[in-house]
Amino acid sequence: MMHLGVCWYPEQWPEDWWEDDVRRMAAMGLTRVRIGEFAWSRLEPTPGRFDWAWLDRALDLLHAHGLGVILGTPTATPPKWLVDGMPDMLAVDAQGRPRRFGSRRHYCFSHAGYRAESRRITTELARRYGRHPAVVAWQTDNEYGCHDTVVSHSAAAAQAFRAWLAVRYGDIAALNRAWGTVFWSAEYRSFDGIDTPALTVTEPNPAHSLDFQRFSSDQVLAFNREQVDILRTHSPGRDITHNAMGFVTSFDHHALGRDLDVVTWDSYPLGFLEQFWFSDADKLRYARQGHPDVAAFHHDLYRGCGRGRFAVMEQQPGPVNWAARNPAPLPGMVRLWTLEAMAHGAEFVAYFRWRQAPFAQEQMHAGLLRPDRTDDVGAHEARTAAQDIARLAAAHPAPAARAPVALVFDYQSVWVTDIQPQGAGFSALRQAFEWYSALRALGLDIDILPPDASLEGYPLVVVPCLPILPAGFVDRLAGCGGQVLIGPRTGSKTAEFSIPAQLPPGDLQRLIDLKVTRVESLRPGVAAAPVRDWLEHCETALTPETPLADGQGLVYRAGRLRYLAATLEDGALARLLAAVAEDAELAPQALPDGVRLRRHRGLCFAFNYAPEARRLASSGAREFVLGAEELPPAGVAVWREPPPRKVH
Ligand code: GAL
Repeated sequence: MMHLGVCWYPEQWPEDWWEDDVRRMAAMGLTRVRIGEFAWSRLEPTPGRFDWAWLDRALDLLHAHGLGVILGTPTATPPKWLVDGMPDMLAVDAQGRPRRFGSRRHYCFSHAGYRAESRRITTELARRYGRHPAVVAWQTDNEYGCHDTVVSHSAAAAQAFRAWLAVRYGDIAALNRAWGTVFWSAEYRSFDGIDTPALTVTEPNPAHSLDFQRFSSDQVLAFNREQVDILRTHSPGRDITHNAMGFVTSFDHHALGRDLDVVTWDSYPLGFLEQFWFSDADKLRYARQGHPDVAAFHHDLYRGCGRGRFAVMEQQPGPVNWAARNPAPLPGMVRLWTLEAMAHGAEFVAYFRWRQAPFAQEQMHAGLLRPDRTDDVGAHEARTAAQDIARLAAAHPAPAARAPVALVFDYQSVWVTDIQPQGAGFSALRQAFEWYSALRALGLDIDILPPDASLEGYPLVVVPCLPILPAGFVDRLAGCGGQVLIGPRTGSKTAEFSIPAQLPPGDLQRLIDLKVTRVESLRPGVAAAPVRDWLEHCETALTPETPLADGQGLVYRAGRLRYLAATLEDGALARLLAAVAEDAELAPQALPDGVRLRRHRGLCFAFNYAPEARRLASSGAREFVLGAEELPPAGVAVWREPPPRKVH
């Protein structure tokens, strides 16, 4: 049964409120509480002198009320005394300016002194609380990458980057060859002469930028691994997690996930809608619900990182403070988001935060409670969600099954298209999301997988954009047995960020006999519909399955595999994916606008993201556990359903 929880900051409240807080949490149906992730200045007010007493009391209190604690290491907020004693631990931005004390995440991952401090405070905490009966899990740090903090151009980072390059290339001649530094006389004579790619007059060499991104990602992994190793030593049997973010790709989350037991993430659907690339029409229509596929996309993405276990560490409970505009969720949305996480297999959903703080940076961010300690809307919805979850758990669900569609996504692809978009707005992340969204609107369930995952047994595999083909990928595709759709720019780069000798799609030419000889990025409207803003010209003997008016090919097919040589307008992408899903015998359906489905453990969930009521197409007698055919705005219905089709 999925747990519900909340993020609580006892250090921010009078201690005589704690008992009432914790009692109310338990009464609300919450069973998990995350604490401690920003509490360093209260845990160690002066260097080496710890004040554990308050945290001892908080943990004991939570334990006494049956609440399991997820304890955070406080390394996202190094205190003032630490920064003053070690000012060069600050991260440095691309303009060469040190980031300052006064908010959070101000450290550089490469700074050896700060790394030692991170190990020290983690060891102290783990020793003290590693076997505390209240502690069920640990969270390392908080949101690596938040506020654009993976990359640092500090002296420590530059030095560590040089060492990283020396290991990767062995000798400088190999690096010069790989990067193509003969171009613009950029040849290096030694690793010592290489800087981080910042402040260059025009764009730096893309291979330099890609290696710096890989290096920066590796620094996050190394930092995290140090904490994980310490926690495993001193806190046996507890899960270790880290809370990832929405649409943040600045480090390799698949690699991070392999070091964790559970990958968690922080879900702020309204903030994400406002913050990202969505059309004005979508921003209006979904202002109080969030985009119907954003939470789901991240559930499926993070379930595929690591060991298949995921949860929501922070769930938006009301208006937030950090987007350009911060509306209140439609009544019912907090409950809907909670149940949707369950439908995707989340182990828990924790609301951020217990009570709105009347002071400091996030005073305009809602909590489950108002600052005056009264229940806010979120508290009522959390209570309803707890009752729903109990009802669903009592429905004796079946074991979890795989989804029928695999969508291949990797972080490096996003780095490649960010470094060299070639056309405004082109992003492998956006491609992946748009394909995902179109598939979901067809009523399909999706597993988002890293490119080294086995694809065997999936009736449908889609690869929206994978410029660098990892070793063995083409063979895995060849052997997967399902229908395959490959998107533009796949196979278009070598690992060294060059065009492959045989031209794109590189090694994929073993499966489909075509070469991309030229690409165009286009202002929408320049190319004839249904091309949106990217068009590839292919040299091939294959007859295009879908030709454009001028006879040029849009989709080419070789057996089970199709190659799409353009980005498409939404409707055309949906039609193509529907055709491919038909070939895979997945029975795609046209769901009512704004409605999404997810099957999980023998139950089928339906969610209405539309601001209007929707009616599910009648399909014989559904045995409803929650809701009914008529879905009000923010409505949820759940019925029993046998798995749609056997996936081995
Ligand atoms: C998250 C962060 C929390 C809080 C929250 C506000 O990014 O982890 O500490 O700042 O956003 O929405």
